[in-house]
Amino acid sequence: MNNLEKIVKNCSKCPLKDGRTNVVFGSGNVNADVMIIGEAPGKNEDEQGLPFVGKAGQYLDELLAIANLKREDVYIANVLKCRPPSNRNPRAEEIQACAPYLREQTAKVNPKVIVTLGNFATRFILKNEEGITSLHGKPVQAGKFTVYPVFHPASTMYDPKKKTALEKDFANLKSLL
Ligand code: URA
Ligand code: SF4
Repeated sequence: MNNLEKIVKNCSKCPLKDGRTNVVFGSGNVNADVMIIGEAPGKNEDEQGLPFVGKAGQYLDELLAIANLKREDVYIANVLKCRPPSNRNPRAEEIQACAPYLREQTAKVNPKVIVTLGNFATRFILKNEEGITSLHGKPVQAGKFTVYPVFHPASTMYDPKKKTALEKDFANLKSLL
């Protein structure tokens, strides 16, 4: 992953390059059976250059523990490698510019299961427009990968029903491994 990481750290393919402190390439075990895909770096991630290190990241660690997994067992990357201003939604042209990087990461890790967090990651992998509310918790085969869409951890913080659903989905992740 080192060569690709060097390229991405110098990327200027979309305007998000202007607002970033750090590129957030991704981290974890490149031989993992489970790859977790998020949306884009937030403030803490931009500051530290690592994915899911803020509040959503602490919660992601709890969710991984529910599935008997640790961070070092998985590989984590985002659809976008640079933080959108004020954490706004990724734009189609930014996703398109950044897409080759996540595709290459996915090919290199070659996981059994891809857990997509929220709508943007799920749409990126499944290439459809269906919403996460109907897709979450149902594994689907996409080529050689099992794709497992779940709610984004940040989206469940103030929604107890979604939070319960997300935790149940992580408990069920065990049965896919
Ligand atoms: N939310 C994401 O989608 N990715 C991160 O890295 C942090 C928060
Ligand atoms: Fe490059 Fe992706 Fe960052 Fe845009 S978001 S500058 S495409 S690494």
